[in-house]
Amino acid sequence: MIRHLLNIDDLTKHDIEQILTTAARLQPADGAPVRKYPALRNKTVVNLFYEASTRTRTSFELAAKRLSADVVNFAVSGSSVEKGESLKDTAETIMAMGIDAIVIRHKATGAPHRLSEWVDAHIINAGDGMHQHPTQALLDLYTMRRHFPSFEGLRVAIVGDVTHSRVARSDVQALNIMGSEVTLVGPPTLIPPQAEHWNVTVTHDLDAVLPKADVVYVLRMQLERQSKGYVPSLREYASIWGLDRTRAEMLKDDALIMHPGPMNRGVEIAADVAELPRSVITDQVANGITVRMALLYLMLGSPIEGADAGVA
Ligand code: NCD
Repeated sequence: MIRHLLNIDDLTKHDIEQILTTAARLQPADGAPVRKYPALRNKTVVNLFYEASTRTRTSFELAAKRLSADVVNFAVSGSSVEKGESLKDTAETIMAMGIDAIVIRHKATGAPHRLSEWVDAHIINAGDGMHQHPTQALLDLYTMRRHFPSFEGLRVAIVGDVTHSRVARSDVQALNIMGSEVTLVGPPTLIPPQAEHWNVTVTHDLDAVLPKADVVYVLRMQLERQSKGYVPSLREYASIWGLDRTRAEMLKDDALIMHPGPMNRGVEIAADVAELPRSVITDQVANGITVRMALLYLMLGSPIEGADAGVA
């Protein structure tokens, strides 16, 4: 397994299959109590989050704890970062404390890559600027895998604010590696011109795409990253690009609705559509823990003697 996970295309198809298979082994049975594995005993994982996060940070924390690692959540507010300490100094300080892995989220593209050059620990990118969010793509694949037998030829429509989305960039790469067919749908202002080199179909006609899609992946309008002028108004955006009830009814019977969260209900997705049985948005959250456990196990775990010790 790779040493760091910085970008999705650090992974081969085989690596991705291995992560998904390991996650399936770790998948708790419905209603079963949470199980803890000893595979990361004596390992320490630091969550270094320079950007707001609820689900991703909590998900990494639970994943590491369920493998018996020690976990430190390094809160940037209240730390010396607020006094102007550089990423490099912060990294050296936490490394002096004997850390095995750093999970980093940062607003700057490439920050996880820089960190991997400076410190002697496994680095996992939990989101860097508008660039990559590889573990989100892995949990998205895992969620699709639980509903569809094969990625080959699976039709996935990614809808909305692609320009500002690291999730879209990672998902496009991951789905390409797995042989799926990706269509990007959104207003021309929110589809980046480079997308024509991403091996995807680009269209601006959502209603034409919906009846053919196996998965509709709705992106959050990244309002915090947008300057004015991308769309005339959120209300107009919702009426043209939002996944509302009428549009959801155009989907095939077995098609899924996904969203990485957090949702702007009533903007990119209607509140009642997010609650439909075909919407697997809360499954994505739950699967995130399982997939991150699989990744941490494969990157850091050493099988321990004893029947119940390892994972695989
Ligand atoms: C995503 C992110 O932070 O990039 N959220 C997440 O990790 N679940 C998507 C988003 O913020 O829209």
